[in-house]
Amino acid sequence: MTTEILTHVERGVMTLTLNRLDRKNAITTAMYSAIADALMAAQVDAAVRVVLVQGHETVFSAGNDIGDFIKPPPAGAESPAFRFLHVIATFPKPLVAAVCGPAVGVGTTMLFHCDLVYAGDNAAFSMPFVNLGLCPEAAASLLAPQMLGYHRAAEALLLGEPFMAEAALEVGLVNRIVPPTEANAVAQAAARKLAVKPIESLMETKRLMKKGQQQLVLQQMADERVSFSRLLAGPAAKEAFGAFMDKRTPDFSKL
Ligand code: COA
Repeated sequence: MTTEILTHVERGVMTLTLNRLDRKNAITTAMYSAIADALMAAQVDAAVRVVLVQGHETVFSAGNDIGDFIKPPPAGAESPAFRFLHVIATFPKPLVAAVCGPAVGVGTTMLFHCDLVYAGDNAAFSMPFVNLGLCPEAAASLLAPQMLGYHRAAEALLLGEPFMAEAALEVGLVNRIVPPTEANAVAQAAARKLAVKPIESLMETKRLMKKGQQQLVLQQMADERVSFSRLLAGPAAKEAFGAFMDKRTPDFSKL
């Protein structure tokens, strides 16, 4: 397993740490694979009752690795990124997240699938897919309008505007705002609180809460995947990724 994803199981909690700080925890294909494998194993491991996903107190994740987008990565349903999205969207045990600093792209969209989210007061959420010539994934095109309301979702998804911890708390994307140095510990404490509860009741309650729109979420993810894969190979994405690499502003005026 890559060292850019650390896993640790203690007292019923599997803690998954994004550990690629020099690249702001941007997630590579290998990292998606490692997280997906860890979550698949956790589903059937009786020693794991709850999973906690965390980054660093300065950054949660810069989203998908842009170098990987350029290659381009495998884009089928069985690709590591979509395998990760599928497992997180269907994960039967409680998922807790601690988020500090930037949470870009999938760094934000994965949170729609977490049950409890604790944010540092420096957390900044953004889904700049359009700015990269792409479209949302992880059913964010369904779940963001539901959670934020259509117009705030349009601000986040069409304009690609970031929103801060307070706004995330107001719409219910996060449960609590804490000092960044405490976020991982606060989330760990919540995860441990869950881990001593009866697991079958937890899983059944989560299943019942999610059941109403599980199929809708999976269908939306399948639709997004088709669009995302097409756009990934398109000229706007090419321009956006080139601009990111060259540290310049992209020019979409001729597209
Ligand atoms: N993919 C690949 N490399 C990335 C990356 C990503 N998603 N995000 C950051 N990096 C790299 C930077 O290119 C930089 O590399 P360098 O040191 O060789 O110049 C390094 O990580 C540090 O990033 P930097 O931008 O200097 O850090 P920052 O603290 O000023 O800003 C972010 C942090 C997350 C706000 C900023 O890096 C960012 O916006 N990244 C791109 C996010 C993005 O568009 N992701 C895709 C979403 S779908």
